[in-house]
Amino acid sequence: MKEVLRLNPISPLIDKVFGDKYKLVAESEAPVGILVRSFKMHEYEPAKSVLCVGRAGAGVNNIPCDKYAEKGIVVFNTPGANANAVKELVLLSLLLCGRKIIPGIEWAQSLKGQGADVGPAVEKGKSKFVGGEILGKKIGIYGLGAIGRLVANACVALGMDVVAYNRTVREEIKAELDPRVKLVGSFDELIEGCDYISLHVALKDNTRGCINAETIAKLNDGASIVNAARGELVNIEDVKAALASGKLNRYVVDFPSDEALGCDGIIPIPHLGASTPEAEDNCAVMAGKELVEFVESGNIVNSVNYPNVSLAKGGAQRLVVLLNTVECPCDAVKGAIAKAGVGVVDSICKQGKATSAALFNLDKVADESLVADLETIPGVAKARLI
Ligand code: MLT
Repeated sequence: MKEVLRLNPISPLIDKVFGDKYKLVAESEAPVGILVRSFKMHEYEPAKSVLCVGRAGAGVNNIPCDKYAEKGIVVFNTPGANANAVKELVLLSLLLCGRKIIPGIEWAQSLKGQGADVGPAVEKGKSKFVGGEILGKKIGIYGLGAIGRLVANACVALGMDVVAYNRTVREEIKAELDPRVKLVGSFDELIEGCDYISLHVALKDNTRGCINAETIAKLNDGASIVNAARGELVNIEDVKAALASGKLNRYVVDFPSDEALGCDGIIPIPHLGASTPEAEDNCAVMAGKELVEFVESGNIVNSVNYPNVSLAKGGAQRLVVLLNTVECPCDAVKGAIAKAGVGVVDSICKQGKATSAALFNLDKVADESLVADLETIPGVAKARLI
């Protein structure tokens, strides 16, 4: 049985995907793959046997994807698998921004022991907890991945005026969006005059700190920000200053840092966006299927550091070649295959942003020395016969 190492707890539903061919283990010397949730892998050295890493979630900022690409380790994520769970947390957060529900609940609890006076005390004291509605308010959705799209549509259904920005808007994104979501062409255009902002972008160099003093100034006075994406998207000191001045009303963050705690106007949630049994099951099953597909066929689905590539099985053997270059050295690879005395039945090669992947169906079983030959070709990160 092949071992798959888990660096975080993973839903037991994974066993249905793995059957009796793979075993999820907490320790292994030679795992074929790794499943991870939020474990920070930047300082972690994977065993030489590791072919791929499956992230049970969408964000991959805890994984050194480029470094792994150089070693020929394919990193997968599970886009959409936890989207509904995160959407529901965002909707709750939006409502918590307007209504003073949490302090109201805390106050109601404090009335314990007042017997028949509780009812009158509630009616007398409730005016301290009056809060506004979201109906008709303008919300900017930054990022239209699976979560951003669900949030945008739900906000339309709740009667909000929804604008959204994504760097590129593919037809499939447009098709899934409610036509009442207004698409704008830049982040600056998005935030101008918004009452709410909801963040749904990955943490990258060009998104880090996108909420800062300059961008907050463009929001309507008394606006609120919901961040169920990653804490570092926001300059927390600028947000605290804007809360103190009254420019911002609330900041809800699902990734609180020490600086965000104990501050008036910040509602810290302990990273619960994807913490539902449904989302955990969906992520485990999707990550498990991606891992099995890659180990058994070399087909790549939902990778963040290699291009997606699939080829129907055929021939006597499958050869997988992963390249840490976009200039595929096809002639050299084909030359090595020919030198090994095997023919190619069919093949596919795909280029990504910085890497490429090629799959070959071979007409006969090749000697393992072919792998060693291929791995001497500059740009070939890993070759594998299946
Ligand atoms: C995600 O990136 O999808 C979430 O952070 C998943 C999680 O909670 O592990």
